[in-house]
Amino acid sequence: MSLRTRIRDFSSLVQLQAPALPTTASALHAARDIGDVRELARRRTPRFVFDYVDGGSFREESVAYNQTAFAGHRFAPRVLRPVGQPDLSAELLGGRTKLPIGLAPTGLTGLSHPEGEKAVARAAAAFGVPFSVSTMATSSIEDVAAAAPDSRRWFQLYLRTDRAKSLDLIRRALNHGYESLVLTVDTAVAGRRLRDDRNGLALPPKLRVDTFFDTARHPGWALRFLANGAPKLANFSESTNSISELVSSMFDPQLSFDDLDWLREQWPKNLIIKGVLHPDDARTAFDHGADAVWVSNHGGRQMDRTVAPIDVIAEIRAAVGPHRPLILDSGIRSGLDVAAALAAGADFVHVGRAFLYGLMAGGQPGVERVLQILSDETRNAMQLLGAATITDLRQGQLHAPLCMNLDQYPEDSVLNKRTA
Ligand SMILES: Cc1cc2nc3c(=O)[nH]c(=O)nc-3n(C[C@H](O)[C@H](O)[C@H](O)COP(=O)(O)O)c2cc1C
Repeated sequence: MSLRTRIRDFSSLVQLQAPALPTTASALHAARDIGDVRELARRRTPRFVFDYVDGGSFREESVAYNQTAFAGHRFAPRVLRPVGQPDLSAELLGGRTKLPIGLAPTGLTGLSHPEGEKAVARAAAAFGVPFSVSTMATSSIEDVAAAAPDSRRWFQLYLRTDRAKSLDLIRRALNHGYESLVLTVDTAVAGRRLRDDRNGLALPPKLRVDTFFDTARHPGWALRFLANGAPKLANFSESTNSISELVSSMFDPQLSFDDLDWLREQWPKNLIIKGVLHPDDARTAFDHGADAVWVSNHGGRQMDRTVAPIDVIAEIRAAVGPHRPLILDSGIRSGLDVAAALAAGADFVHVGRAFLYGLMAGGQPGVERVLQILSDETRNAMQLLGAATITDLRQGQLHAPLCMNLDQYPEDSVLNKRTA
């Protein structure tokens, strides 16, 4: 056979395509899981931006552990149950959502993409899930409502020492169709975010020599920001310095359960308390009028070296009883994590970083891609676990961790032999 014939035969077997520069749409489509989206986000944003989203407090032990704790929970699937059309919808606070997944409040979202909270609210509306607008948002309460009038909007409040300023935010949220108020309570003071301090993160961003070159290596991000102007806190006008100083000025270290009674009088709709990890605090929050408790360690951005919410949700469920609404976040990066949280006793989950990676990777379509991945993975997990509805996940499919840190399995354990 001649060389030419061999080349012809070979080329008929392979489909050669001219390499095309990946568009945002194709890159998002190619992303198979949240890890892929995170990698895309890392490549597309300057480091100080990626670090702000990806990082946590102090040595970031809680950030890492939140995911290790999920991995330590194992499933025992139930079989021979019809799961052809699983129903992923969830009942929460008097409303039904298409998915049991919401988008958590995140401050300075406009750093990730200039469309910031507006893009996130539109993506949430497209998937019929709630999105919480942070006190520290870079789009105002009013602008988010106008950008996504059909969205299920919640407003996240930091109750400030100056109560009049908080009251102003509460009234604006009430007047613009926000259906729940989320009071964050794990922020007596700011967590020590070392990556941000080292990167000199400030608002508006101040470019140092290193951050200037880093930004120049990400022309897409830089051009978008030149066109739209530097992000700022949109819900109030106050002079800002370093992020830690700014964040500290938002918090009231004297906040106590008595303040919940006051807040309960100001806000007639759903009141959710976010940042609870102890069963007694969850019970007390309900006693003071909370409609739901949000079990969270702030994604490892406040107190470091905490327990993970997935470790304590079952205990909190036992403490508050079967009917009190419990939300969980921190460390959710896949549909398996969603299924584990629901199986352990949460009614609903939220993601923070996962959707921000999507926003950094590709604006609103990036957030939608993340919701699609999480929804597909949750559906797949439910089917493989024998659950036709999310309540069917509580049929003994979840096993509490045998050993939290996989590295700590004894050397002769089955697991180590299998992975060796
Ligand atoms: C960049 C960033 C900013 C955040 N800002 C706020 C905020 O303003 N208010 C708040 O209550 N929580 C805030 N959080 C915490 C999230 O609401 C959520 O609890 C956390 O991200 C969940 O963990 P996960 O990122 O592992 O999903 C922020 C989280 C991130 C990643």
